[in-house]
Amino acid sequence: MTRRPLTTLVSALLLIACATGPALAQSDPSKITGPEACIACHKLEGAAWQEMKHFKTFDELHRRPEAKDIAGKLGIANIKNESTCVQCHYTSMGAAGAAKVIAGVSCELCHSAGADWTKVHNVKENANHIADAEKLGFISPGNIYKLASNCFQCHTIPNEKLVNTGGHQVGSALELVAWTQGEMRHHFLGGKTNTEATPDRKRMLYLVGRVVDLEYSLRGIAGAVERGAFVQGMNRRIASATAELQKIADKLPDGAAKTDVLAVIAAAVKPAAAADGTGLKITNKDAVLAGAKTISDLGQKMSATYKGTDLAALDSLLPTANQGTPFTAP
Ligand code: HEC
Ligand code: HEC
Ligand code: HEC
Ligand code: HEC
Repeated sequence: MTRRPLTTLVSALLLIACATGPALAQSDPSKITGPEACIACHKLEGAAWQEMKHFKTFDELHRRPEAKDIAGKLGIANIKNESTCVQCHYTSMGAAGAAKVIAGVSCELCHSAGADWTKVHNVKENANHIADAEKLGFISPGNIYKLASNCFQCHTIPNEKLVNTGGHQVGSALELVAWTQGEMRHHFLGGKTNTEATPDRKRMLYLVGRVVDLEYSLRGIAGAVERGAFVQGMNRRIASATAELQKIADKLPDGAAKTDVLAVIAAAVKPAAAADGTGLKITNKDAVLAGAKTISDLGQKMSATYKGTDLAALDSLLPTANQGTPFTAP
C-alpha cells in the first residue's frame, strides 16, 4: 500500500462522509446477524422475502442499465462497494472496517439489526418479551410509527446529489397499506396462510403511513441547496401528502383524531427558498425541521394510542389494489 499524506487522507474521508450521509441506525453492520439466522425459525417469512424486490435487488441492481447510468454520473465504479447505494439497497454485515455486503434489503433493515434482541423477542414465557426486545432495538410490527419511519427513510431519497446529479428517482409513491399487503406480505405467525392485515390494522397503517410520508418529505427538503429535480420532487411529495391528510381530516368526525390530523397539516411548514446567486437556500430550515418533529410526535401518539375501530370513517379512502402479488405458501 502506498503512503498518503495524512491531510489528503483526512479530506478524502471527509468527502466520503459528506457524500454519503449517516447510515440508518438500525442497520449497524456489526449487529447484523444475517437473514439466514432469522429464517432458521421464520421459514415461510424467508420464502416470501425471496420473492420480494427487496431480495432480488442484490442480484439485479448492479446489472441494470439505469443503475450503471446513475453510478456513471456520480463517478461510482462498484455499486456494491459504494456506501451511498449500500445504505438503501443492500445489507452489510461485519465488524467496523471489515463489513461485507451479504444480501439485498433483508429482515433486519426493517426489524432492526438482531444481535441484541433476537434471543429475547421469542421467549413467550416472558410476558413482556416484545417490549423487552423493543428496549434492545427490535422494531415490532406493533409499533406502526417506527415500522413506517423505516420505510420512508429509504423510500423518500433524502439525498440531493443522488437525485440531481445521479438522476435517481426522488422516492416512491409508497402508501403503507397497498405496499405492505402485496408482494411484501409475510404474515405467518398464525400458520401457513399468508393472511392479509385486519381491517382495523389497515386503517392504522393508512393513517400513520400518510403522517410519516409528510414528516420524511419535510426532513428530505430541509437540507436542499439548489434548484433541480430534488426540490421539485420533494415539494410534490409534501403537496400530495398534505392533500391526502386533508382528505382524511374531511372524512373524520369531529373529535380528537380530526384535531390531531389538522395539527399535522398545520405543522407542515412550507420551505421558503431564497435565490442567492449560487442557486437556492432553504431559509427556514429550522422551522421546517421543527414542524417535522411536531408531526413525528403526533404520529407516535396516533400509533401508540389510536384504535383502528375508531377509524371506520377512513374505509372509503383505503386502496383497493395492492403493490404486487402476495406470496402463497406451498
Ligand atoms: C429461535 C427462533 C427465532 C429466531 C432465530 C428468530 N425469531 Fe422472530 N420470532 C420467533 C417466535 C417464536 C416469535 C413469536 C413470538 C410471539 O408469539 O410473541 C417471533 C416473532 C417475531 C416477530 C413478530 C413480533 C411481534 O412484535 O409480534 C418478528 C417481526 C420477528 N420475529 C422477526 C425476526 C427477525 C428479523 C429475526 C432475525 C434477526 C428473528 N425474528 C429471529 C422465533 C424466532
Ligand atoms: C435513500 C435510499 C436510496 C439510496 C441512497 C439509493 N437508492 Fe436506489 N432506490 C431506492 C428505492 C427506495 C428504490 C425503489 C423505488 C421504487 O421501486 O419505488 C430505488 C430504486 C433504484 C433503481 C431502480 C429504478 C428504475 O428505474 O428501475 C435503481 C437503478 C437504483 N435505485 C440505483 C441506485 C444506485 C446506483 C444508488 C447508489 C448511487 C442508489 N440507488 C442509492 C433507494 C435508494
Ligand atoms: C422491507 C421491510 C421488511 C423486510 C425486509 C422484512 N420485514 Fe418482516 N415485517 C415488515 C412489516 C411492515 C411487517 C408488518 C406487516 C403488516 O402489518 O401486515 C412485518 C411483519 C413481520 C412478522 C410478523 C408477522 C405476523 O404473522 O404477525 C414477522 C415474524 C416478520 N416480519 C419477520 C421477518 C423476517 C424473518 C424477515 C426476513 C426473512 C422479514 N420479516 C423481512 C417489514 C419487513
Ligand atoms: C433499507 C432500505 C429500504 C427499506 C427500509 C424499505 N425499502 Fe422498500 N425498497 C427498497 C429498495 C432499494 C427497493 C427497490 C429494489 C429494486 O427495485 O431493486 C424497494 C422496493 C420496494 C417495493 C417494490 C416496489 C415496486 O416497484 O414494486 C415495495 C412494495 C416496498 N419496497 C415496500 C416497502 C415497505 C412497505 C417498507 C417498510 C415496511 C420498505 N419497503 C422498507 C429499499 C427499502
